[in-house]
This record gives sequence, structure tokens and C-alpha cells, in this order.
Amino acid sequence: MKLAPSILAADFARLGAQVAEAERGGADRIHIDVMDGHFVPNLSMGAPIVASLRPVTRLPLETHLMISNPDLFLQEFAESGSDSFLVHWEGNFNLHRTVQSIRALGKRAGVAINPATPAAVLEEILPDVDQVLVMTVDPGFGHQRFLHSTVAKIGRIRQMIDRVKHDCDLEVDGGIDSETAKLCVEAGANVLVAGSSVFGTNKSVPEAMNRLRAGRE
Ligand code: DX5
Ligand code: ZN
Repeated sequence: MKLAPSILAADFARLGAQVAEAERGGADRIHIDVMDGHFVPNLSMGAPIVASLRPVTRLPLETHLMISNPDLFLQEFAESGSDSFLVHWEGNFNLHRTVQSIRALGKRAGVAINPATPAAVLEEILPDVDQVLVMTVDPGFGHQRFLHSTVAKIGRIRQMIDRVKHDCDLEVDGGIDSETAKLCVEAGANVLVAGSSVFGTNKSVPEAMNRLRAGRE
């Protein structure tokens, strides 16, 4: 099981230090949430954050694009140091083209689906991707409550991945704490994105990550 701390919940005044703490805690990758106030009703960060983090960590920088036209920004993020992209199925009429553009930049490609989107939409694109991201909350904000209705879908996608693309990561994002992490892993997830349960607790970041792994509050 891999951990991808989301810096959305980090202290931005000490972002480099927070990422270093996550690295010390054994993070597998750093998850960067990009929001445009249009695809989701919130704003967050852009490529300059990726460029600032690139020289201060060896961890892969995973870029979750919650924006209306991801194709316009892929190159800028790639040049800034993004190693992988998660793009949404929702609202993308040319998803295959977007995925091919990511691959042409030499980056890992992942497709994200929202809670109300059925697993079946992944069937055709799965052979082309390295990661699937199941949103376990509606995207746009950190610190939301995990939607239990997504657990059965994680199981269905695990079966699909085992059948079609067994080396594809199955990642979950939103409301992941030690309890919900366990449910997701049991259902077949192998990568956990976590923001507030890593950066927003009264424990140190490495300790919070250990608790998440161990399934303890
Ligand atoms: C939500 C983002 C998540 C967010 C998760 O739209 O995609 O990555 O940071 O935050 P928590 O872990 O607090 O739910
Ligand atoms: Zn995210």
C-alpha cells in the first residue's frame, strides 16, 4: 500500500518543510491538487508550486487536475516537474487524446472518476493508463466526509484492473483516515491520497502517516 500525501492540507508558509516531513514519513509520491474555480467550486494552486517543490524532493510529483481544460496546461506542468497527471473523465470529450498527450510528454497518465460516475466508463481507457483515481468525495475541497457508497465501486474497478491492466495503480482520494483507508485497501485500492489526516492532525507528519498505515486513529 502506497501513501500519497496531498499538500492541499499543508501549511503553505512551510511547504518545503512539510514535503520533507512527508518524505521522512515514507511517502511514495506527493499529490498536488490543482483547481480552477470552474471544474470545481474552489481555487488552489498552479505550476509554480510544482516548480518550487521539484528541487526540494526526490519524490514523484503527482498532479491532480481538477480543471476544465487540462490539455492547455499539461506542457507547463510537465516542464515545471510533474511526473504524473490525473485527469478527470467528467467533462472531457476527448479523454483518449488527453491521455495520449500526457504519454507523449513522457509522463504517467491516470484517469479520475467522481463519486457519481460508474466504473464502466473506465473500460476502454484502462489499457492506456498507469493509474485510476477513485474520488471518494466530490472533488473541490479537503476535509470532507468519505462517501461509503464508493467502496463497492473500488471493488469493481479492482476486478477490472486485474482482468485488463494488472500493473495499474488503484488510488483513492478524499476523506481517507485510518478507518476509511482500511475499507479502501480491503476493497482493492493500493494507493491512498490523504490531506488532512497527514498534515492536519496534532501529530507529526511521519507519526500521522504511521497511524494511517496501521489503521489507528
Ligand atoms: C479533493 C482533493 C483531495 C484532497 C483530499 O478535491 O482531490 O486530494 O486534498 O483531502 P482530505 O484527505 O482532507 O479529504
Ligand atoms: Zn486530489
